[in-house]
Amino acid sequence: MKCIEVTIWLFLAAVVSAKPPNMVFMLMDDMGWGDLGVYGNAAKETPNLDKMAAEGMLLPSFYSANPLCSPSRAAMLTGRLPIRNGFYSTNAHARNAYTPQNIVGGIPDSEILFPELLLQAGYATKIIGKWHLGQQPQYHPLKHGFHEWFGSPNCHFGPYNDVTTPNIPVYRNASMAGRYYTDFPINRSTGESNLTQLYIQEAVDFIHKSVGAGSPFFLYWTPDATHDPLYASKTFLRTSSRGLYGDAVRELDYGVGVILKLLTQLGVASDTLVIFSSDNGGATYAKEMGGSNGPFLCGKETTFEGGMREPTIAWWPGTVAGGTVSHQLGSMMDWFSTALDLAEIKEPDDRIIDGMSLLPILVNGTVTDRPVFYYRGDELMAVRYQMYKAHYWTWTNSIDEFNHGTDFCPGEEIANVTTHDQVNHTSQPLLFHLGRDPGEKYLIKPKTAEYIEAMKLIQPIVDEHHKTLVKGAPQLNYCDPAVMNWAPPGCEDLDQCLPVPHHDQTLCYWPH
Ligand SMILES: *[C@@H]1O[C@H](CO)[C@@H](O)[C@H](O)[C@H]1NC(C)=O
Ligand SMILES: *[C@@H]1O[C@H](CO)[C@@H](O)[C@H](O)[C@H]1NC(C)=O
Ligand SMILES: *[C@@H]1O[C@H](CO)[C@@H](O)[C@H](O)[C@H]1NC(C)=O
Ligand SMILES: *[C@@H]1O[C@H](CO)[C@@H](O)[C@H](O)[C@H]1NC(C)=O
Ligand SMILES: *[C@@H]1O[C@H](CO)[C@@H](O)[C@H](O)[C@H]1NC(C)=O
Ligand SMILES: *[C@@H]1O[C@H](CO)[C@@H](O)[C@H](O)[C@H]1NC(C)=O
Repeated sequence: MKCIEVTIWLFLAAVVSAKPPNMVFMLMDDMGWGDLGVYGNAAKETPNLDKMAAEGMLLPSFYSANPLCSPSRAAMLTGRLPIRNGFYSTNAHARNAYTPQNIVGGIPDSEILFPELLLQAGYATKIIGKWHLGQQPQYHPLKHGFHEWFGSPNCHFGPYNDVTTPNIPVYRNASMAGRYYTDFPINRSTGESNLTQLYIQEAVDFIHKSVGAGSPFFLYWTPDATHDPLYASKTFLRTSSRGLYGDAVRELDYGVGVILKLLTQLGVASDTLVIFSSDNGGATYAKEMGGSNGPFLCGKETTFEGGMREPTIAWWPGTVAGGTVSHQLGSMMDWFSTALDLAEIKEPDDRIIDGMSLLPILVNGTVTDRPVFYYRGDELMAVRYQMYKAHYWTWTNSIDEFNHGTDFCPGEEIANVTTHDQVNHTSQPLLFHLGRDPGEKYLIKPKTAEYIEAMKLIQPIVDEHHKTLVKGAPQLNYCDPAVMNWAPPGCEDLDQCLPVPHHDQTLCYWPH
């Protein structure tokens, strides 16, 4: 009797473990570390995210691979620094480059995205929201690991006139379904849009369908309401004490609640790893129309902590213990290795992967020493190891841009740190202790024993990194009006094809 019971139990265990877990990655756009109640936001307007953290693991020392959206997203999906996967520019030193609609490049076919490997392993894969790895058809999600797509290749900037600049298309799978502003309205005077509601509904439908089909699924949920121009639906407009930005956060928090509740109701919560994070820091230059980076210096576009430390939560009831905090130095690139580990897929061994599997951290709370690299374009600006961060270069933006009103560090000028020149500190890096000084304000003096000891750890890591680095071919150097979204696939069916202008390929101008 006992023997039979054991046999049945073993059989059930084998059946259960035969199906790898589902994964839901919720990646926000320009949301800051300090925007969530659980991360200390005084408005406390994120009850669902706070609950997610209470039921899961908070990762307060988690970093994006870049302070800007396209390179950050490309790094997450490839597990590789943008300098390796090509999401950078060499047009000028240390410039933030991305994928506006006139960019010629995009994600190279030679890069392996983890959804490509999940798809081969039998996962149903869907992206809902912003892609940002290139708007030309060869770069689209359905060519790089996704079965399904609802969303857009670029930011929702506009409205445009469709004469000098086309409105950005929204896709369903490989074909356009319409364009922002005309078919998917965003009211620029009120900030009203139903897009977040559409993205929530798409997620609900996909989860229902995948659970029904019994296949493991990967959902990459990447709504962009917290990216300029901000938007929220009528139900959420003017409900936040923080203004329109807070309205957008509240609606996204609501969406997180809907998705987690659905997973629970469908009985798959214990088979699903859910990650919440953001692509880069809050856009401090937008002042009260941007996010909060908590105690950290500056924000988006910079390699100070505010630019790259992300509000990260992991949720997996029954596997990740509730109410836990991990001080692991984590990277968005780790989700690449973690996803492969969970699906028992061998990591590619023909290339350097910068991520590491977080499974031991999530399951057992272990902590592993490892560095964090802060890149801006083609330059390694800073390195963190343990509590120390060394800046090899500092730059906010040019004094000319600053004098014309673009301030990446409003209210946070720190002498010799938030510099308006690109300052090369390589011969004597600026060193901070992020434990006692999370805001990077108090320089550790170079002649002190602490400085000397810390640099003895950091310098060999930097030397080794430079020595072994093989840079990918830069993808973000060329721009051309002919590659814009004039005639996206499927435009014929909607009668929305616009005339394509002549090619005029030039080096893109990246001001900062
Ligand atoms: C998108 O692709 C999925 C998966 O192949 C399919 O089930 C769905 O019907 C497609 N949607 C449209 C509108 O073509
Ligand atoms: C935006 O909303 C305002 C107020 O409801 C309305 O008057 C205006 O027509 C709307 N604009 C667009 C482009 O729909
Ligand atoms: C949002 O959807 C509601 C209900 O369908 C509709 O009345 C409203 O006009 C939509 N708003 C926008 C900005 O599209
Ligand atoms: C967690 O720790 C247990 C006990 O040491 C070990 O057997 C298991 O492999 C670890 N799991 C992971 C994912 O590291
Ligand atoms: C900034 O650097 C200059 C030149 O090295 C130095 O003279 C000055 O004391 C520094 N200022 C501060 C506040 O550290
Ligand atoms: C930065 O400084 C280091 C050390 O002084 C020097 O070797 C390097 O060439 C400098 N880099 C640039 C781009 O000036």
